[in-house]
Amino acid sequence: MEQKALSEMKDLRDWLELMEGLGQLRRVEGADWNLELGAITELNSHIRGAPALLFQSIKDYHSHYGIVTGTTSNATRLGATLRLSTSLDDMGLVKALRGKSIQWETEAENYAPHLVEEGPVQENVQRGSQVDLTQFPAPKWHERDGGRYLGTGCVVVTKDRDTGWINVGVYRMMLQDERSLTLHMVAGKHGRQQIERYFALGEPFPVVVSLGHDPLLFLIAGLEVPYGISEYNYVGAILGQPLEVVRGEVTGLPMPAYSEVVLEGWCRPGNLKNEGPFGEFTGYYSYSETPQPVMEVERVYFRNDPIILGAPPGRPPHDFSYYKAVMRSAMLHDALEKAGVPGVQSCWADEVGGSRQLLVVSIQQRYPGHSRQAAFVASQCQVGAYLGRYVIVVDEDIDPANLQDVIWAVVTRADPERDIEIFRKAWGSKADPMNVTFNQKVAYNSRAIIDACRPYEYRDVFPPVAECSPEYRQQVLQKWAHLFE
Ligand SMILES: Cc1cc2nc3c(=O)[nH]c(=O)nc-3n(C[C@H](O)[C@H](O)[C@H](O)COP(=O)(O)O)c2cc1C
Repeated sequence: MEQKALSEMKDLRDWLELMEGLGQLRRVEGADWNLELGAITELNSHIRGAPALLFQSIKDYHSHYGIVTGTTSNATRLGATLRLSTSLDDMGLVKALRGKSIQWETEAENYAPHLVEEGPVQENVQRGSQVDLTQFPAPKWHERDGGRYLGTGCVVVTKDRDTGWINVGVYRMMLQDERSLTLHMVAGKHGRQQIERYFALGEPFPVVVSLGHDPLLFLIAGLEVPYGISEYNYVGAILGQPLEVVRGEVTGLPMPAYSEVVLEGWCRPGNLKNEGPFGEFTGYYSYSETPQPVMEVERVYFRNDPIILGAPPGRPPHDFSYYKAVMRSAMLHDALEKAGVPGVQSCWADEVGGSRQLLVVSIQQRYPGHSRQAAFVASQCQVGAYLGRYVIVVDEDIDPANLQDVIWAVVTRADPERDIEIFRKAWGSKADPMNVTFNQKVAYNSRAIIDACRPYEYRDVFPPVAECSPEYRQQVLQKWAHLFE
């Protein structure tokens, strides 16, 4: 029954209905787009297990136009969005995801999107001078944001000029006026590489942007799917069936047939406008405003009473930090095994570090040097190399997702002088708040690995942990059950 409901979900509306049925959605009427909607989302993100929020009757907007936030921020909603299950916990999800990214990547080529003549997204179409982006609720999410962001959980669909490869990425979009927005694509991102090629030849860059869609498309577009593989195909591989798309009227780009709102238009060489600052996933505001390409919108397609997917970052835990933590933890475990590190019990890429700056690996030690091997590989494999800061390796009795446990291991099993290794000139990022502070031109950073495992050669004489043995604990729990309900 559950699996059937999950596999029949076709769009954001089916997703919302399922979540409402599971008690995973709360409706919020009358919030102000100016900071209030963002603040309510932020407070909600800080409550473990809180529902997703569907904002309607947003101040100054059509009462039936909505914004949904918190779509993937707990295990029930993330499991459902990935079509896995609604009953897994955090580590259960990580286990269920082991090996999946490799499987989906491999299968993606069999799931090219299915082009259909028409789809619900074309219920309303605005062309040329009819285009009015100000009809859609665009929140100012954080107090120091440089503007109103219509695109946070948006997916940006672009094309490789030479091969035709379709990329779908989550890049934030700030509203500029009735017919334009800026597109913020960091150097190296696939969309950015594509636009650079068009601009180098002096050609306009075609773009379509979906503002509301199945949260599965959002979460895959926000992950580093390898160069050359389309996220449309990747999502098809997860669903086990191709995504349905319709062709944009002016660019010919494929847009999701079941989207809530799609914008279509062009970025033109030389047309840049300032955007930012913006509250970032590190928990700090980004560097100050910078010039970014302007998307000039020529068509707007939208369903009646459209719902926009909002995903504002900020001090963690934030709107989408949970999904990143779970998915990257599974990818890290896969990467360690692929690199030949044995005895890995589990991995956790915690939300406090945006799933990058703090990686914890628990191992069953097998030989001298094993814990350092795990730490160095975690810090430098593809999943861990970019914008890392600390890697902590712990023994198998420590739950890597429980920071209280992890820090206990650090303060009792690691001696700073002997067990912390530092290396320099690693792959940093301009998004790193330290980089912003020191205004470094080249975004290197340094890394620390903390070996918080009991020293291998002394593990038999290391003092035993002062707690009930598992057997005795079980006996007491049974006898005194009423005390621990
Ligand atoms: C909600 C959200 C907002 C994001 N905003 C940006 C952004 O503004 N610019 C950017 O380059 N990456 C941003 N990212 C990260 C990219 O989506 C991510 O790196 C993705 O892999 C990019 O797609 P690509 O690998 O096809 O380039 C964001 C991710 C999420 C989930």
